[in-house]
Amino acid sequence: MKSHLFIVIALAAGVLAGCKEGSNEAVPAAMDVIMTRTSIRSFNGEAVPREQLETILKAGMAAPSAMNVQPWRFVVLTDKDRIAELFGGGFRPEAYTSAGAIIIVCGQTKYMRKPWGQPDAPEEPAENIFWYEDCSAAAENILLAAHALGLGAVWTAGYPAMERVAPLAEALGIPEDVTPLCIIPIGVPAENPAPKDKWNPDNIHWDKW
Ligand SMILES: Cc1cc2nc3c(=O)[nH]c(=O)nc-3n(C[C@H](O)[C@H](O)[C@H](O)COP(=O)(O)O)c2cc1C
Repeated sequence: MKSHLFIVIALAAGVLAGCKEGSNEAVPAAMDVIMTRTSIRSFNGEAVPREQLETILKAGMAAPSAMNVQPWRFVVLTDKDRIAELFGGGFRPEAYTSAGAIIIVCGQTKYMRKPWGQPDAPEEPAENIFWYEDCSAAAENILLAAHALGLGAVWTAGYPAMERVAPLAEALGIPEDVTPLCIIPIGVPAENPAPKDKWNPDNIHWDKW
């Protein structure tokens, strides 16, 4: 009997190890990360270690993409002077200049494919009409991974606001067939806003509209 009790306790401890400390329910840690993420626009200026940036980028690259084309490309800025030069004179500069790093999520708008039904033909460039959906999935993974690591981040607009995107793309030498989708400052939070409660059952239509 005692050994049975021990096994039950050990199993429960194993399950709860996957749950975040302090939560009342046995909610998996991933759900906790999703529900507590919120946009952070003020950081303490500390650099984000390269290892953490790579973990965050790994999460970005784990996103789904149409036909698994993986059109995401990333420009990572860690140099404070460069960040100040690029964003210091823009709208709400503090969100960028106080960050430890900035990830610019870009999309390759063309991909190489064989002409339909011609497996022996050479590959040719084709438009990837799904690039911004794919890259949005990557961007959300980046926001969640940053939060999971105890960092803050915010999605700031790029495409299709081309007036913001074009000068940045030029300054960074981004090729013509690659478009910046969004600019994500990341860093140690210097603010602690409460996550917004967005649950709204009216947005759901079960079985029919
Ligand atoms: C496509 C998109 C563009 C956004 N652009 C900006 C932006 O330019 N500047 C900014 O401060 N926040 C921007 N945000 C962040 C939103 O303002 C934020 O996600 C929203 O207010 C909900 O708040 P939350 O992220 O804390 O849940 C953007 C978010 C998305 C998805």
